[in-house]
Amino acid sequence: MADAAREAAAREAAVRAALVRVIDPEIRKPITELDMVDAVTVTDAGAATIAISLTIVGCPAADAIERDVRETVASVPGVTGVTVEVGVMTPEQRRALTERLRGSKTRGIPFTADSLTRVYAVTSGKGGVGKSTITANLAVALAQKGLAVGIVDADVYGFSIPGILGLVDEAGIAQKPTRVNDMILPPVAFDVKVISIGMFVDGNAAVAWRGPMLHRTISQFLTDVYFGDLDVLLLDLPPGTGDIAISIGQLLPHAEVLVITTPQPAAADVAERSGVVARQTGQSVFGVIENMAGLVQPDGSVLDLFGTGGGEEVTRRLSEGQSRPVPLLASVPLSVALREGGDAGAPIVLGAPDDPASRAIRSVADRIASRGRDLAGRKLGLSPR
Ligand SMILES: Nc1ncnc2c1ncn2[C@@H]1O[C@H](COP(=O)(O)OP(=O)(O)OP(=O)(O)O)[C@@H](O)[C@H]1O
Ligand SMILES: [Mg+2]
Repeated sequence: MADAAREAAAREAAVRAALVRVIDPEIRKPITELDMVDAVTVTDAGAATIAISLTIVGCPAADAIERDVRETVASVPGVTGVTVEVGVMTPEQRRALTERLRGSKTRGIPFTADSLTRVYAVTSGKGGVGKSTITANLAVALAQKGLAVGIVDADVYGFSIPGILGLVDEAGIAQKPTRVNDMILPPVAFDVKVISIGMFVDGNAAVAWRGPMLHRTISQFLTDVYFGDLDVLLLDLPPGTGDIAISIGQLLPHAEVLVITTPQPAAADVAERSGVVARQTGQSVFGVIENMAGLVQPDGSVLDLFGTGGGEEVTRRLSEGQSRPVPLLASVPLSVALREGGDAGAPIVLGAPDDPASRAIRSVADRIASRGRDLAGRKLGLSPR
């Protein structure tokens, strides 16, 4: 009898050990660590029954978890059959989970000045210069290097990140985030956690809010969305130097700014202004990215559709009077592939890594990933994502 009991315990232990490999796709931690495994039994004949409790019913990740549990347990030696009983957490269990994920910290924006997450706000004076396209591709390139990356699409009126990262269905409707109590689990695209107002509005409904509401929304994104321990958080800002840029400056004064400009010398004025406003709210300018630079034509000649020199001009102006000159991080050429990748929801840093635009964006990712001393002692991509 004692032997039989020991054997049963050993079988169950083997199954539990295997279940550590099942990762909740949204929270990105093993389900065992999330207290989602309620019971494990394995009969003498090897029939395993696993009872799991998920965060909410109809949770988009539920099917994936159930399948993973089934496949993982089936691969345990001696298991001949698997039954998965899927239940839902009680309100108390959910509360315990959200509290544990948030840590002991009091509720608030986790991305404080002393947090290890580097925050970059991508801005420009002018619209349509490629902020969102570069934010999305940069995020994917950083994730590909093993960093834990999140994006907050702070362009409440003109959100476009869900589309660029393929988080929309054929009708253009963005994937809805899962909610656990007041915690929002951000959808994940290409290993990047993404939150956007586009995920909360119906279809392409316009958002017509005024300043205070915008501020509350951004603040809520930063407080209630569970990003976990990020290495880098990118914020895609709307064009101009309006309410949202100021809100971001107030909520995240330690954020650094990436200024995007086109090569057009006339664009330099407005781009410079976005950097100046960021500084007024205490943020520093990390660097300038020139986008839509010369298009390399099939015959090898370069077509400077938007002129040249804008990036250098903004860099020069933003460096004036600074102890550290602002670098021109990259000049991203016009690229049909980059535009098509954005339209298709397939970032070219993955699909066409050797496209000149991909190379330029990846070089910025390299620079961000290897920010020398400041990252010393920090976990880089080794944390569970
Ligand atoms: N280097 C490039 N080559 C070709 N097309 C590009 C390039 N960069 C961006 N685009 C295209 O230009 C358009 C505008 O880009 P995007 O939406 O990223 O700009 P934005 O600055 O975020 O705009 P908004 O100010 O409206 O938020 C998109 O169709 C995008 O695919
Ligand atoms: Mg945009």
